[in-house]
Amino acid sequence: MDPTFVLLSAFLISIIALGIFIWSMRNGAYHDSSGANVIFTAHEVGRAEDPAAASDSLTALQRTVDLRQGHTTAPTDEELVPRAEADRSSATVTFVFLSCAIGWLLLGSFAGLVSSVKLHDPDWLARYEWLTFGIIRTIHLNAVIYGWSSMAGLGLAMWMLPRLLKTTLQGGRFALLGAVLWNAGLIAGIGSVGAGFSTGLEWLEMPWQVALLLVLGGALIGVPLLLTVARRTVDHLYVSVWYLGAAVFWFPILYLVANLPGVHFGVEQAAMNWWYGHNVLGYFFTPLSQATIYYFIPKVIGRPLQSYTLSLLGFWTQAFFYGMVGAHHLIGGPVPSWLTTLSIVQSVMMVVPVTAFATNHVLTMKGYWKTLVYSPTLRFMVVAAVMYVLVSLEGTVEALRSVNTVTHFTHFTVAHAHLGMYAFVAITLFGGIYFVMPRVVEREWPYPRLIAAHFWLVVVGIVVYVVSLSIGGWLQGRAMLDATRPFLDSVAVTLPWLKARSIGGALMTAGHAVFAVHFLAMVFDLGPRRYRAALFHVARSADHA
Ligand code: HEM
Ligand code: HEM
Repeated sequence: MDPTFVLLSAFLISIIALGIFIWSMRNGAYHDSSGANVIFTAHEVGRAEDPAAASDSLTALQRTVDLRQGHTTAPTDEELVPRAEADRSSATVTFVFLSCAIGWLLLGSFAGLVSSVKLHDPDWLARYEWLTFGIIRTIHLNAVIYGWSSMAGLGLAMWMLPRLLKTTLQGGRFALLGAVLWNAGLIAGIGSVGAGFSTGLEWLEMPWQVALLLVLGGALIGVPLLLTVARRTVDHLYVSVWYLGAAVFWFPILYLVANLPGVHFGVEQAAMNWWYGHNVLGYFFTPLSQATIYYFIPKVIGRPLQSYTLSLLGFWTQAFFYGMVGAHHLIGGPVPSWLTTLSIVQSVMMVVPVTAFATNHVLTMKGYWKTLVYSPTLRFMVVAAVMYVLVSLEGTVEALRSVNTVTHFTHFTVAHAHLGMYAFVAITLFGGIYFVMPRVVEREWPYPRLIAAHFWLVVVGIVVYVVSLSIGGWLQGRAMLDATRPFLDSVAVTLPWLKARSIGGALMTAGHAVFAVHFLAMVFDLGPRRYRAALFHVARSADHA
């Protein structure tokens, strides 16, 4: 088939789909802007909510919101009792997912730090096979991706579902069983990698026999979503439900197809590898995080999204355009050039959903920026949302052939990877966990200052990480392309930047240690005890009713 024809058709189909979508929205085929109010009860618009904020901050937060929206009436017990029940229905499931996530975060961060130091100090810990770079790096990747990011994202999804659908969580046991299979698969998979059994395919290193446990676990984790949607008491599915539904539906399919044994060989295997590699980012981690941001930013400031229509436009354009971008990982590789060109075209088209996301959140936050001073959750969410826009725009530029020629095979890609999976995804998840945990254990975070310490350690850490590695990677790429310079120049030039990355990574790891200690203190009820966080009196009176 003529490649130009394939390219042009894919491009035109996406544009036509977009046109039909915009036309149907204008003709009222989708819910009008009142869809944005679904996450509030009648008296909640204008009420700030952040259980992670200490008492005085919460008062100041509400005062800042009042200045914009005028004083509003507090929600009634009739409104809040079902909310408290919804929160309680997901508490156990969420707690299990988040606890596993934090365990994996610690393991993954230390493995990342060890890998990082080895890149500028290669003899360190060289005596142990499982601590050699190829193995410990792979342990890092799998622990942070399938352990931390997946467990935390899905745990928050389980918690948001009953709130978004205004009912209790249905079928939580399926999710718990799913989590058991998922974690068992991951322990076996990381164990296999540690023992030297890796497929060698990035993001798919675990042997397919154990990967299937994650497929099964992922599918089971999707069951509560279907059951809870069926029992919902709202007419409209808020945009976060679309994102969550898409993520839990897409993951098992992507991971199953990518792990089918005996099907993918040679160049086709590489194409499949990156079809999976970028789709798991765009169709799993990104929508999980976007769902979280779309829920928590409006919820904390008590203000519905500025443009609900724009949020749906963002969702559908992402669904239309993301599917083909994976081949931008193979630019210059032995694959048909139409395939990589198509992926570059789609990478550029991603500007549409990203702009829709950015515009919507900037307009929603307009006039509310001061709330950032008082709400810990919001600080994480807003930083993450900005990082999402940055990483995506950077990715679009990075996908252009002229730029990719320099950055491919360099540390620049790793900097971009952390801008996405860390500055955007992980920071979103941190913010969500800070909001959710006081509801889950019905206690406040004992030491609010530790939240601030965590925030600054990880934000400064990731900035040092990304800036230094981007510079080092760019210099490395330029040195590799210069035929007059010996190859070793391209290695030597990166050394100071690799050391700076280790400093950034050490700050991030320290932030994670603070976070984990605080999490444990909260769970074991250590430190000052406060139970003020809104809704708890209602939850308790419901208990005694
Ligand atoms: C419009 C959006 C985006 C575009 C066009 C894009 C583009 C790219 C490009 C061109 C590469 C380098 C490929 C190579 O030379 O090997 C890359 C790598 C990567 N991107 Fe993005 N990116 C986007 C958004 C994101 C987001 C939102 C995330 C995180 C959630 C992300 C995570 C990554 C990761 C982890 C890698 C490295 C994969 C690996 O080599 O293991 N990207 N991206
Ligand atoms: C939640 C936290 C983290 C996430 C989600 C994450 C994610 C990732 C991803 C997606 C990659 C693959 C990048 C690529 O191949 O292009 C990677 C590799 C790596 N990460 Fe992380 N990371 C995290 C924390 C850390 C920390 C704290 C460090 C400490 C310095 C670190 C150091 C590394 C190193 C050294 C590599 C290997 C880079 C290479 O192959 O050259 N990461 N990480």
